[in-house]
Amino acid sequence: MRYHDLKKTVFSDSAPQSIMNSSSFKKDFPLLAKQNIFYLDSAATSQKPLVVLKQMEKFYKEKNANPHRGIYSLSEAATKAYENSREVVAKFINAKPTEIVFVKNATEAINLVAISWGKKNLQKEDRIVLSEMEHHSNIVPWQQVALETGAIIEKIPLNTDHSALDMAEYVRLFFPQRMSEKNSKYKKKVKIVGTIHISNVLGTINPINEMTRIAHQNGALILVDACQSTGHLPLDVKELDVDFLVFSGHKMFGPSGIGVLYAKEEHLKNMPPFLTGGDMIKTVSWEKSTWADLPHKFEAGTPPVAEAVGLAAAIEYISSIGFSAIHSHENDLTRMLHKELAAIEGVIVLGPSLKTARGALVSFDVNNVHPHDVASILNESKVCIRSGHQCAMPLHTSLNLAASCRASISIYNIEEDITALVAGLTRVKEVFRL
Ligand SMILES: Cc1ncc(COP(=O)(O)O)c(C=O)c1O
Repeated sequence: MRYHDLKKTVFSDSAPQSIMNSSSFKKDFPLLAKQNIFYLDSAATSQKPLVVLKQMEKFYKEKNANPHRGIYSLSEAATKAYENSREVVAKFINAKPTEIVFVKNATEAINLVAISWGKKNLQKEDRIVLSEMEHHSNIVPWQQVALETGAIIEKIPLNTDHSALDMAEYVRLFFPQRMSEKNSKYKKKVKIVGTIHISNVLGTINPINEMTRIAHQNGALILVDACQSTGHLPLDVKELDVDFLVFSGHKMFGPSGIGVLYAKEEHLKNMPPFLTGGDMIKTVSWEKSTWADLPHKFEAGTPPVAEAVGLAAAIEYISSIGFSAIHSHENDLTRMLHKELAAIEGVIVLGPSLKTARGALVSFDVNNVHPHDVASILNESKVCIRSGHQCAMPLHTSLNLAASCRASISIYNIEEDITALVAGLTRVKEVFRL
C-alpha cells in the first residue's frame, strides 16, 4: 500500500473500529505485559517486542564478532548479519543498500549531513530553510554550520491557526525578487530545506512531496526528519524523491544506539567523510588515506551490529502486522484521544483538528498548569506522558507556551490507556482546584 492510498483510507472518519479494543499486540512487549502502566510516550521511545530482544540475544549468543575485519567464519557471520540488516532497512524505505548509512540516532544523521554536506556546499549568505516545527536536532546542527560558513537560516512559518506550515510563505522564500529587494540580506539562493515529516509536538503531517518538488524546482536539496513517521506510515524515498531522510531505530520498536541516514547515492559520493578512523578507509599511509566504498565511507569504527540486527527485527515485526492494521489501530485511538482531551474543560489541544490527517500523538495544555506538574500527578496513577518543551523550544515560543504535555499512541495502546489519562487529568484539576 502506498502512502497516499493509506492516507485516503485510514485517516478518514469512517476508519474501521476493528482492533481498537484489542490488546493483542501488548502481549508482544515484555515490559508492558509485566508492568501495569499506561504507556503514552512512544513518540519519545517505543517499547520493544520480544522478537527484537530475542534476535539481539541470538546475535550475541551465536554470531558475535567484529564485522568486516576477520577472515574466520564467525566474523563473516557477524558481517552477514550487519549487512543483511542494511538490506532490510533499504527495502523498508525503497532505497539501495549503498544509500543506507547506520549512525547512532537521527540527531547524528542530521549532524552528518550538516557537517559533511554543509561545510562543503554552503557559502556566505547561502540560505538554509527550516520549518518552524523543527525538533532541536534539525535546528542546532544547521546553526553551527551557519556560524562556520556564514550561511543564513530562514524559517517556514506556521499558518495562522498554528496547525500546519504556511505553504505560500514557503514558496515565497524561493522568490528571486526577494533577493533583489533593496537592502535585502537575502542575496543568495536557498541551498537546502530541512523539514520534519510529522511534527513531534503538533502531530501535523507535512506535505513532503510538494515541499520536495518546490525545493527541487528552485535548485535546493531537501532533508526530511522522519522520526515520527517511520513505523507509522509506509515511506518510499524514491516516490518522495527526497535527498536525505533520517530516523531513529528506538522510536520504531528497535533498540537505542542505531539510527539511519538515507541519502541519494550521488550526494554520498560527493560528500567528505564525517567521522574518520578504522573501517571507513580503503588505504592509509603516513601521507594520505583513501576512503572505503559507500556506505562504509561514513561508518567509522566498530559498528552497532546487534543494534542493526534489532532494527531489522523491528522492521520485520512491523511488516508482519502491516501498515494498514497499524494505522487503523493508531488512527482510531488518536481520534479518541483527541476527542476526549478536547472535551475536558480547560484543556487546549494543539495542532490540527480531527478533519485533517495527523500523526499518532496529541499535545495539550491544562489551564496553564506546568506540564511537569501534570506529568507528576499522572505518574501517581501510572500514566506515562511527555512533558516539557519536547525539544522544540522555538515552536513553543511561536505557540506562546513555555512547554506542553504530549500523549502518543502505538500499536500496543488500548482504550484503557486513554481512559486512565483522562481520569488522571480530572485528578490534576482537583489538585489545582480548577
Ligand atoms: C521529530 C524528531 N526528530 C528528531 C528526534 C531526535 O531523535 P534522537 O534523539 O533519537 O536522535 C526526535 C526525538 O524525540 C524527534 O521526535
